Amino acid sequence: MTGGEAPFREELGRAPGAYGEVLLRRRAADDGEHLELVVDGVFAMDDVDTATERALATEALRRCRGQGLTVLVGGLGLGCTAAAALADPRVAAVEVVEVQPPLVDWAREGLLPALPVADPRLRLRVGDVAAHLSGTRARYDAVLLDVDNGPVFLVHPANAGLYEEPGLAAALGALRPGGMLAIWSSAPVPELAGRLAGRSGAADVEHVVLAVERDGRRHEYALVLGRRAAQAS
Ligand SMILES: C[S@@+](CC[C@H](N)C(=O)[O-])C[C@H]1O[C@@H](n2cnc3c(N)ncnc32)[C@H](O)[C@@H]1O
Repeated sequence: MTGGEAPFREELGRAPGAYGEVLLRRRAADDGEHLELVVDGVFAMDDVDTATERALATEALRRCRGQGLTVLVGGLGLGCTAAAALADPRVAAVEVVEVQPPLVDWAREGLLPALPVADPRLRLRVGDVAAHLSGTRARYDAVLLDVDNGPVFLVHPANAGLYEEPGLAAALGALRPGGMLAIWSSAPVPELAGRLAGRSGAADVEHVVLAVERDGRRHEYALVLGRRAAQAS
């Protein structure tokens, strides 16, 4: 791009969603093109550096034992967490629950290049992951949540409950004993790790800070990881 020109933006999709309009677009940058997701006029994410979204899957799965693992991903976004889970050959099934119907449609149309949408292990569902968790039996080896910018910066106020006692209990309850819960956050959240560690059904709780350089600035993201105790309450 030369100075003074408007950055190239191509709209790939624009549709009404569950919480305002959903927009998927491509923009030009010095290092190539990037995808951007905008919800209700607010920038949600791009694919400039998706290392921490991928780490949400790899760090949780690294702590899972066995083969034939089943994974729930809460929040599709640009599909990077789900793709990282599918890249693990021990994973037999990845179920993604996404609240925005247009995003699921665009994924199925192949508009999210990170996501191997034809992988037979992948199942995309439209829905609220909080409702899904509270209505499910213990069947996942990993539950990976990235539906907000973390508990300190909610995208939808209704998501607050996911990080409180009943929400954490539902997420742990959706795991097989020994399974891993992992939550992404755009800032360190030691209080969330403490809340999870305080639950009798949780074990091995960790708060992992991940540093990322972006636009010349250092950012600290975080993962909260915890295992469902073998004898969960
Ligand atoms: C930051 S993006 C997720 C990024 C994703 N980890 C990736 O790798 O691209 C958050 C996603 O969660 C979705 N979302 C927000 N609240 C949700 C909810 N309660 N249930 C399901 N999906 C939700 C948003 O629509 C958005 O697609």
